[in-house]
Amino acid sequence: MSQYTKRILITGGAGFIGSHVVRLFVKKYPQYLIVNLDALTYAGNLENLKDVDQSPNYLFELGDIKDEVKVDEIFAKHSIDHVIHLAAESHVDRSIMDPLAFVKTNVLGTTVLLNACKKNWRNNFDGKLFYQVSTDEVYGTLGETGFFTEETPYDPRSPYSASKAAADHFVMAYHHTYHLPVIISNCSNNYGSFHFPEKLIPLMINNIRNSKPLPVYGKGDNVRDWLWVEDHARAIDTIFHKGKTGEKYNIGGFNEWKNIDLVKFLCKLMDKKLGRPLGQSEKLITYVTDRPGHDQRYAIDASKLNRELGWKPSLQFEEGLEKTVDWYLANEEWVKHVTSGEYQKYYSDQYAKR
Ligand code: NAD
Ligand code: DAU
Repeated sequence: MSQYTKRILITGGAGFIGSHVVRLFVKKYPQYLIVNLDALTYAGNLENLKDVDQSPNYLFELGDIKDEVKVDEIFAKHSIDHVIHLAAESHVDRSIMDPLAFVKTNVLGTTVLLNACKKNWRNNFDGKLFYQVSTDEVYGTLGETGFFTEETPYDPRSPYSASKAAADHFVMAYHHTYHLPVIISNCSNNYGSFHFPEKLIPLMINNIRNSKPLPVYGKGDNVRDWLWVEDHARAIDTIFHKGKTGEKYNIGGFNEWKNIDLVKFLCKLMDKKLGRPLGQSEKLITYVTDRPGHDQRYAIDASKLNRELGWKPSLQFEEGLEKTVDWYLANEEWVKHVTSGEYQKYYSDQYAKR
Protein backbone atom coordinates (compact mmCIF):
# COMPACT_ATOMS: atom_id res chain seq x y z
CA MET A 1 0.00 0.00 0.00
CA SER A 2 1.44 3.36 -1.08
CA GLN A 3 2.22 5.94 1.62
CA TYR A 4 0.89 8.60 -0.79
CA THR A 5 -2.81 9.40 -1.27
CA LYS A 6 -2.23 10.86 -4.74
CA ARG A 7 0.65 10.33 -7.18
CA ILE A 8 0.74 13.41 -9.40
CA LEU A 9 2.73 13.92 -12.59
CA ILE A 10 3.36 17.65 -13.10
CA THR A 11 4.78 18.39 -16.56
CA GLY A 12 6.86 21.52 -17.19
CA GLY A 13 7.57 21.87 -13.47
CA ALA A 14 10.97 23.51 -14.07
CA GLY A 15 9.41 26.42 -15.98
CA PHE A 16 7.96 29.70 -14.72
CA ILE A 17 4.42 28.71 -13.67
CA GLY A 18 5.23 25.01 -13.27
CA SER A 19 7.87 25.71 -10.62
CA HIS A 20 5.34 27.68 -8.56
CA VAL A 21 2.79 24.86 -8.89
CA VAL A 22 5.37 22.22 -7.89
CA ARG A 23 6.50 24.32 -4.90
CA LEU A 24 2.92 24.84 -3.69
CA PHE A 25 1.95 21.16 -4.02
CA VAL A 26 5.18 19.74 -2.54
CA LYS A 27 4.97 22.01 0.51
CA LYS A 28 1.21 21.96 1.08
CA TYR A 29 0.59 18.25 0.44
CA PRO A 30 3.30 16.01 1.99
CA GLN A 31 0.77 13.18 1.55
CA TYR A 32 1.05 13.49 -2.28
CA LEU A 33 3.96 12.27 -4.41
CA ILE A 34 4.91 14.96 -6.95
CA VAL A 35 6.80 13.78 -10.04
CA ASN A 36 8.09 16.63 -12.20
CA LEU A 37 8.64 15.69 -15.87
CA ASP A 38 10.55 18.37 -17.76
CA ALA A 39 12.79 18.38 -20.84
CA LEU A 40 14.77 21.38 -19.46
CA THR A 41 14.50 23.42 -22.66
CA TYR A 42 15.87 26.99 -22.62
CA ALA A 43 12.81 27.89 -20.47
CA GLY A 44 13.25 25.14 -17.87
CA ASN A 45 15.67 25.54 -15.00
CA LEU A 46 16.09 23.31 -11.95
CA GLU A 47 17.44 26.32 -10.02
CA ASN A 48 13.78 27.42 -9.84
CA LEU A 49 13.12 24.52 -7.45
CA LYS A 50 16.17 24.63 -5.17
CA ASP A 51 14.02 25.16 -2.07
CA VAL A 52 11.96 21.97 -2.56
CA ASP A 53 14.12 19.56 -4.53
CA GLN A 54 15.28 17.64 -1.45
CA SER A 55 11.72 17.07 -0.18
CA PRO A 56 10.87 13.38 0.35
CA ASN A 57 7.64 13.69 -1.68
CA TYR A 58 9.35 15.22 -4.76
CA LEU A 59 11.03 13.52 -7.74
CA PHE A 60 12.44 14.92 -10.96
CA GLU A 61 12.31 13.03 -14.27
CA LEU A 62 14.26 14.46 -17.22
CA GLY A 63 12.30 13.71 -20.38
CA ASP A 64 10.23 14.91 -23.28
CA ILE A 65 6.42 14.72 -23.24
CA LYS A 66 6.58 13.67 -26.90
CA ASP A 67 8.52 10.53 -25.94
CA GLU A 68 5.84 7.82 -25.58
CA VAL A 69 8.23 5.22 -24.17
CA LYS A 70 9.55 7.57 -21.48
CA VAL A 71 6.05 8.76 -20.54
CA ASP A 72 4.76 5.16 -20.23
CA GLU A 73 7.79 4.25 -18.16
CA ILE A 74 7.07 7.14 -15.75
CA PHE A 75 3.40 6.17 -15.41
CA ALA A 76 4.38 2.59 -14.58
CA LYS A 77 7.35 3.38 -12.34
CA HIS A 78 5.48 5.91 -10.16
CA SER A 79 1.89 4.57 -10.47
CA ILE A 80 0.74 7.99 -11.63
CA ASP A 81 -2.95 8.66 -10.98
CA HIS A 82 -3.22 12.42 -11.67
CA VAL A 83 -1.61 14.70 -14.28
CA ILE A 84 -1.25 18.49 -14.14
CA HIS A 85 0.01 19.40 -17.59
CA LEU A 86 1.97 22.64 -17.98
CA ALA A 87 4.87 21.67 -20.28
CA ALA A 88 4.67 23.72 -23.44
CA GLU A 89 6.42 26.00 -25.84
CA SER A 90 4.93 29.17 -24.38
CA HIS A 91 6.25 32.28 -26.15
CA VAL A 92 4.21 33.86 -28.96
CA ASP A 93 7.24 35.51 -30.64
CA ARG A 94 9.09 32.19 -30.81
CA SER A 95 5.97 30.56 -32.30
CA ILE A 96 6.12 33.10 -35.12
CA MET A 97 9.77 32.15 -35.76
CA ASP A 98 9.26 28.36 -35.51
CA PRO A 99 5.59 27.21 -35.56
CA LEU A 100 6.40 23.50 -36.00
CA ALA A 101 8.15 23.29 -32.64
CA PHE A 102 4.85 24.44 -31.10
CA VAL A 103 2.78 21.85 -32.96
CA LYS A 104 5.18 19.11 -31.87
CA THR A 105 5.32 19.93 -28.16
CA ASN A 106 1.92 21.49 -27.53
CA VAL A 107 -0.29 19.32 -29.76
CA LEU A 108 1.60 16.03 -30.15
CA GLY A 109 3.09 16.17 -26.63
CA THR A 110 -0.32 16.75 -25.03
CA THR A 111 -1.85 13.90 -27.03
CA VAL A 112 0.96 11.54 -25.99
CA LEU A 113 0.12 12.34 -22.34
CA LEU A 114 -3.63 11.83 -22.88
CA ASN A 115 -2.94 8.52 -24.55
CA ALA A 116 -0.67 7.47 -21.70
CA CYS A 117 -3.54 8.16 -19.25
CA LYS A 118 -5.94 6.09 -21.33
CA LYS A 119 -3.48 3.23 -21.78
CA ASN A 120 -1.96 3.06 -18.30
CA TRP A 121 -5.24 3.61 -16.45
CA ARG A 122 -6.75 0.85 -18.62
CA ASN A 123 -10.04 2.70 -19.03
CA ASN A 124 -10.59 2.55 -15.26
CA PHE A 125 -10.77 6.22 -14.45
CA ASP A 126 -11.98 6.13 -10.82
CA GLY A 127 -9.94 8.59 -8.76
CA LYS A 128 -8.01 9.78 -11.83
CA LEU A 129 -7.69 13.25 -13.42
CA PHE A 130 -5.97 14.93 -16.38
CA TYR A 131 -5.72 18.69 -15.70
CA GLN A 132 -4.80 20.82 -18.72
CA VAL A 133 -3.27 24.24 -18.02
CA SER A 134 -4.26 26.46 -20.92
CA THR A 135 -4.36 30.10 -21.85
CA ASP A 136 -6.85 32.90 -22.56
CA GLU A 137 -5.17 33.35 -25.97
CA VAL A 138 -7.23 30.46 -27.39
CA TYR A 139 -10.25 32.83 -27.36
CA GLY A 140 -8.60 35.22 -29.85
CA THR A 141 -8.70 38.97 -29.40
CA LEU A 142 -11.16 41.56 -28.05
CA GLY A 143 -12.09 45.08 -29.09
CA GLU A 144 -12.40 47.86 -26.52
CA THR A 145 -15.13 46.17 -24.49
CA GLY A 146 -16.23 42.70 -23.38
CA PHE A 147 -14.62 39.73 -21.65
CA PHE A 148 -13.71 36.13 -22.49
CA THR A 149 -16.06 33.73 -20.69
CA GLU A 150 -15.95 29.93 -20.64
CA GLU A 151 -18.54 30.01 -23.46
CA THR A 152 -16.51 32.24 -25.80
CA PRO A 153 -15.75 30.18 -28.94
CA TYR A 154 -12.09 29.42 -29.59
CA ASP A 155 -10.57 31.72 -32.23
CA PRO A 156 -6.77 31.43 -31.91
CA ARG A 157 -4.69 33.73 -34.09
CA SER A 158 -1.00 32.96 -33.46
CA PRO A 159 0.81 29.65 -33.97
CA TYR A 160 1.19 29.49 -30.18
CA SER A 161 -2.50 29.98 -29.42
CA ALA A 162 -3.52 27.69 -32.29
CA SER A 163 -1.34 24.93 -30.83
CA LYS A 164 -2.81 25.42 -27.33
CA ALA A 165 -6.35 25.45 -28.77
CA ALA A 166 -5.65 22.24 -30.69
CA ALA A 167 -4.31 20.64 -27.50
CA ASP A 168 -7.44 21.70 -25.58
CA HIS A 169 -9.62 20.15 -28.31
CA PHE A 170 -7.72 16.85 -27.93
CA VAL A 171 -8.28 17.01 -24.17
CA MET A 172 -12.05 17.40 -24.65
CA ALA A 173 -12.03 14.73 -27.40
CA TYR A 174 -10.51 12.21 -24.94
CA HIS A 175 -13.19 13.20 -22.43
CA HIS A 176 -16.11 12.78 -24.84
CA THR A 177 -14.79 9.71 -26.64
CA TYR A 178 -13.13 7.70 -23.87
CA HIS A 179 -14.69 9.37 -20.75
CA LEU A 180 -11.25 10.41 -19.51
CA PRO A 181 -11.84 12.74 -16.51
CA VAL A 182 -10.38 16.09 -17.54
CA ILE A 183 -10.46 19.73 -16.47
CA ILE A 184 -9.13 22.71 -18.46
CA SER A 185 -8.28 26.12 -17.05
CA ASN A 186 -7.58 29.17 -19.22
CA CYS A 187 -5.51 31.85 -17.55
CA SER A 188 -4.51 35.39 -18.47
CA ASN A 189 -0.93 36.78 -18.49
CA ASN A 190 1.11 35.82 -15.44
CA TYR A 191 3.96 37.76 -13.80
CA GLY A 192 6.24 37.13 -10.81
CA SER A 193 9.50 35.47 -9.80
CA PHE A 194 11.36 32.97 -12.04
CA HIS A 195 9.79 34.46 -15.22
CA PHE A 196 12.12 33.99 -18.19
CA PRO A 197 13.18 37.43 -19.50
CA GLU A 198 11.85 36.96 -23.03
CA LYS A 199 8.33 37.97 -21.86
CA LEU A 200 7.31 41.61 -21.40
CA ILE A 201 7.65 42.22 -17.65
CA PRO A 202 10.93 40.42 -16.87
CA LEU A 203 12.48 41.66 -20.14
CA MET A 204 11.64 45.27 -19.25
CA ILE A 205 12.92 44.87 -15.67
CA ASN A 206 16.19 43.41 -16.97
CA ASN A 207 16.63 46.10 -19.63
CA ILE A 208 15.78 48.98 -17.26
CA ARG A 209 18.32 47.67 -14.80
CA ASN A 210 20.98 47.47 -17.53
CA SER A 211 19.95 50.79 -19.16
CA LYS A 212 19.15 49.04 -22.45
CA PRO A 213 16.42 50.15 -24.91
CA LEU A 214 12.88 49.11 -23.88
CA PRO A 215 11.30 47.65 -27.06
CA VAL A 216 7.56 48.44 -27.09
CA TYR A 217 5.75 46.77 -30.00
CA GLY A 218 3.64 49.01 -32.27
CA LYS A 219 2.03 51.91 -30.41
CA GLY A 220 2.08 50.15 -27.06
CA ASP A 221 -1.71 50.28 -26.89
CA ASN A 222 -2.33 46.51 -26.73
CA VAL A 223 -4.00 45.46 -23.50
CA ARG A 224 -3.13 42.46 -21.31
CA ASP A 225 -4.81 41.24 -18.13
CA TRP A 226 -2.14 40.47 -15.50
CA LEU A 227 -2.24 37.93 -12.66
CA TRP A 228 0.41 37.19 -10.02
CA VAL A 229 1.83 33.73 -10.73
CA GLU A 230 1.33 32.53 -7.14
CA ASP A 231 -2.38 33.35 -7.47
CA HIS A 232 -2.46 31.24 -10.64
CA ALA A 233 -0.84 28.36 -8.72
CA ARG A 234 -3.47 28.77 -5.96
CA ALA A 235 -6.23 28.72 -8.57
CA ILE A 236 -4.83 25.48 -10.05
CA ASP A 237 -4.80 23.98 -6.53
CA THR A 238 -8.45 25.02 -6.01
CA ILE A 239 -9.63 23.72 -9.40
CA PHE A 240 -7.63 20.49 -9.09
CA HIS A 241 -9.33 19.69 -5.78
CA LYS A 242 -12.80 21.22 -6.21
CA GLY A 243 -13.41 21.55 -9.97
CA LYS A 244 -15.94 19.41 -11.84
CA THR A 245 -14.60 17.04 -14.48
CA GLY A 246 -15.46 17.91 -18.06
CA GLU A 247 -15.59 21.62 -17.12
CA LYS A 248 -13.51 24.65 -18.06
CA TYR A 249 -12.56 27.47 -15.68
CA ASN A 250 -11.23 30.90 -16.61
CA ILE A 251 -8.56 32.38 -14.31
CA GLY A 252 -7.75 36.09 -14.19
CA GLY A 253 -7.50 39.10 -11.96
CA PHE A 254 -9.76 41.68 -13.69
CA ASN A 255 -6.56 43.70 -14.10
CA GLU A 256 -6.16 45.19 -17.58
CA TRP A 257 -3.19 47.35 -18.51
CA LYS A 258 -2.08 48.94 -21.77
CA ASN A 259 1.51 47.82 -22.44
CA ILE A 260 2.86 51.38 -22.56
CA ASP A 261 1.24 52.31 -19.23
CA LEU A 262 2.70 49.21 -17.64
CA VAL A 263 6.20 49.92 -18.99
CA LYS A 264 6.02 53.53 -17.75
CA PHE A 265 4.84 52.33 -14.32
CA LEU A 266 7.81 49.92 -14.16
CA CYS A 267 10.21 52.71 -15.19
CA LYS A 268 9.02 54.93 -12.31
CA LEU A 269 9.14 52.08 -9.81
CA MET A 270 12.66 51.12 -10.84
CA ASP A 271 13.95 54.71 -10.89
CA LYS A 272 12.93 54.79 -7.23
CA LYS A 273 14.46 51.37 -6.41
CA LEU A 274 17.72 52.10 -8.27
CA GLY A 275 18.08 55.65 -6.90
CA ARG A 276 17.86 57.17 -10.41
CA PRO A 277 16.34 60.62 -11.13
CA LEU A 278 12.61 60.18 -11.82
CA GLY A 279 12.08 59.99 -15.62
CA GLN A 280 15.54 58.60 -16.47
CA SER A 281 14.39 55.05 -17.33
CA GLU A 282 11.42 56.24 -19.42
CA LYS A 283 13.93 57.75 -21.87
CA LEU A 284 14.90 54.16 -22.76
CA ILE A 285 11.44 53.44 -24.27
CA THR A 286 11.81 52.61 -27.98
CA TYR A 287 8.81 51.89 -30.20
CA VAL A 288 9.65 48.97 -32.51
CA THR A 289 7.91 47.14 -35.38
CA ASP A 290 4.74 45.47 -34.18
CA ARG A 291 4.38 41.71 -33.60
CA PRO A 292 2.73 40.16 -36.71
CA GLY A 293 -0.94 39.37 -35.98
CA HIS A 294 -0.63 41.08 -32.57
CA ASP A 295 -3.83 40.41 -30.53
CA GLN A 296 -5.21 43.77 -29.41
CA ARG A 297 -6.80 43.03 -26.06
CA TYR A 298 -7.29 40.12 -23.64
CA ALA A 299 -9.67 40.34 -20.68
CA ILE A 300 -10.79 37.33 -18.67
CA ASP A 301 -14.09 36.98 -16.87
CA ALA A 302 -13.10 34.79 -13.91
CA SER A 303 -16.44 35.06 -12.12
CA LYS A 304 -17.32 31.35 -12.50
CA LEU A 305 -14.20 30.38 -10.55
CA ASN A 306 -15.06 32.85 -7.81
CA ARG A 307 -18.76 31.96 -7.69
CA GLU A 308 -18.45 28.17 -7.85
CA LEU A 309 -15.11 27.45 -6.18
CA GLY A 310 -14.50 30.58 -4.07
CA TRP A 311 -11.11 31.58 -5.56
CA LYS A 312 -10.04 35.20 -5.86
CA PRO A 313 -6.64 36.87 -6.40
CA SER A 314 -4.75 37.73 -3.23
CA LEU A 315 -2.58 40.61 -4.46
CA GLN A 316 -3.13 44.04 -6.01
CA PHE A 317 -1.07 44.48 -9.20
CA GLU A 318 1.02 47.41 -7.92
CA GLU A 319 2.02 45.39 -4.83
CA GLY A 320 2.76 42.30 -6.94
CA LEU A 321 4.89 44.29 -9.38
CA GLU A 322 6.92 45.77 -6.53
CA LYS A 323 7.52 42.29 -5.08
CA THR A 324 8.54 41.09 -8.57
CA VAL A 325 10.99 43.96 -9.14
CA ASP A 326 12.48 43.34 -5.67
CA TRP A 327 12.90 39.65 -6.52
CA TYR A 328 14.72 40.40 -9.79
CA LEU A 329 16.98 42.94 -8.09
CA ALA A 330 17.83 40.42 -5.35
CA ASN A 331 18.40 37.54 -7.79
CA GLU A 332 20.93 38.94 -10.23
CA GLU A 333 22.76 35.60 -10.40
CA TRP A 334 19.60 33.79 -11.59
CA VAL A 335 19.04 36.43 -14.28
CA LYS A 336 22.69 36.28 -15.38
CA HIS A 337 22.53 32.53 -15.58
CA VAL A 338 19.36 32.29 -17.67
CA THR A 339 20.35 35.15 -19.98
CA SER A 340 23.77 33.75 -20.85
CA GLY A 341 24.30 31.60 -23.96
CA GLU A 342 21.21 30.89 -26.06
CA TYR A 343 19.34 33.98 -24.80
CA GLN A 344 21.85 36.35 -26.42
CA LYS A 345 21.29 34.79 -29.85
CA TYR A 346 17.49 34.82 -29.42
CA TYR A 347 17.60 38.46 -28.34
CA SER A 348 19.58 39.63 -31.37
CA ASP A 349 17.45 37.56 -33.82
CA GLN A 350 14.25 38.92 -32.28
CA TYR A 351 15.08 42.60 -31.82
CA ALA A 352 17.96 43.51 -34.18
CA LYS A 353 15.78 44.01 -37.26
CA ARG A 354 12.74 45.65 -35.61
P1 NAD B 1 7.65 28.27 -19.61
O1 NAD B 1 8.04 28.42 -21.03
O2 NAD B 1 8.26 29.15 -18.58
O3 NAD B 1 7.92 26.76 -19.13
C1 NAD B 1 7.63 25.65 -19.91
C2 NAD B 1 8.30 24.44 -19.28
O4 NAD B 1 7.98 23.29 -20.10
C3 NAD B 1 9.83 24.53 -19.23
O5 NAD B 1 10.30 24.06 -17.99
C4 NAD B 1 10.28 23.61 -20.36
O6 NAD B 1 11.56 23.02 -20.13
C5 NAD B 1 9.17 22.55 -20.36
N1 NAD B 1 9.02 21.92 -21.66
C6 NAD B 1 8.94 22.51 -22.89
N2 NAD B 1 8.83 21.57 -23.86
C7 NAD B 1 8.83 20.37 -23.22
C8 NAD B 1 8.73 19.03 -23.67
N3 NAD B 1 8.62 18.74 -24.98
N4 NAD B 1 8.75 18.03 -22.76
C9 NAD B 1 8.86 18.30 -21.43
N5 NAD B 1 8.99 19.55 -20.95
C10 NAD B 1 8.96 20.57 -21.83
O7 NAD B 1 6.06 28.37 -19.61
P2 NAD B 1 5.08 29.03 -18.55
O8 NAD B 1 4.95 30.46 -18.84
O9 NAD B 1 5.48 28.57 -17.19
O10 NAD B 1 3.71 28.33 -18.98
C11 NAD B 1 3.33 27.07 -18.43
C12 NAD B 1 1.99 26.66 -19.01
O11 NAD B 1 1.02 27.64 -18.68
C13 NAD B 1 1.98 26.56 -20.53
O12 NAD B 1 1.20 25.45 -20.89
C14 NAD B 1 1.34 27.86 -21.00
O13 NAD B 1 0.66 27.69 -22.22
C15 NAD B 1 0.37 28.13 -19.87
N6 NAD B 1 0.06 29.54 -19.61
C16 NAD B 1 1.05 30.48 -19.45
C17 NAD B 1 0.72 31.81 -19.14
C18 NAD B 1 1.78 32.86 -18.94
O14 NAD B 1 1.44 34.04 -18.78
N7 NAD B 1 3.06 32.52 -18.90
C19 NAD B 1 -0.63 32.16 -19.01
C20 NAD B 1 -1.61 31.19 -19.19
C21 NAD B 1 -1.26 29.88 -19.47
O1 DAU C 1 -2.39 35.58 -22.12
C1 DAU C 1 -1.66 34.48 -21.65
C2 DAU C 1 -0.37 34.38 -22.42
O2 DAU C 1 0.45 35.45 -21.98
C3 DAU C 1 0.33 33.04 -22.22
O3 DAU C 1 -0.48 32.01 -22.73
C4 DAU C 1 1.70 33.04 -22.91
O4 DAU C 1 2.37 31.83 -22.62
C5 DAU C 1 2.49 34.21 -22.38
O5 DAU C 1 3.73 34.26 -23.05
C6 DAU C 1 1.74 35.52 -22.56
O6 DAU C 1 1.62 35.89 -23.96
P1 DAU C 1 1.78 37.41 -24.47
O7 DAU C 1 2.16 37.40 -25.89
O8 DAU C 1 0.62 38.25 -24.05
O9 DAU C 1 3.01 37.84 -23.53
P2 DAU C 1 4.36 38.67 -23.81
O10 DAU C 1 4.98 38.91 -22.47
O11 DAU C 1 5.19 38.08 -24.88
O12 DAU C 1 3.79 40.07 -24.34
C7 DAU C 1 2.91 40.86 -23.56
C8 DAU C 1 2.56 42.09 -24.38
O13 DAU C 1 3.73 42.93 -24.50
C9 DAU C 1 2.12 41.79 -25.80
O14 DAU C 1 1.11 42.72 -26.18
C10 DAU C 1 3.38 42.03 -26.65
C11 DAU C 1 4.09 43.13 -25.88
N1 DAU C 1 5.58 43.13 -25.94
C12 DAU C 1 6.22 41.95 -25.63
C13 DAU C 1 7.60 41.89 -25.65
C14 DAU C 1 8.33 40.61 -25.31
C15 DAU C 1 6.28 44.27 -26.25
O15 DAU C 1 5.68 45.34 -26.50
N2 DAU C 1 7.64 44.21 -26.27
C16 DAU C 1 8.34 43.07 -26.01
O16 DAU C 1 9.61 43.09 -26.07
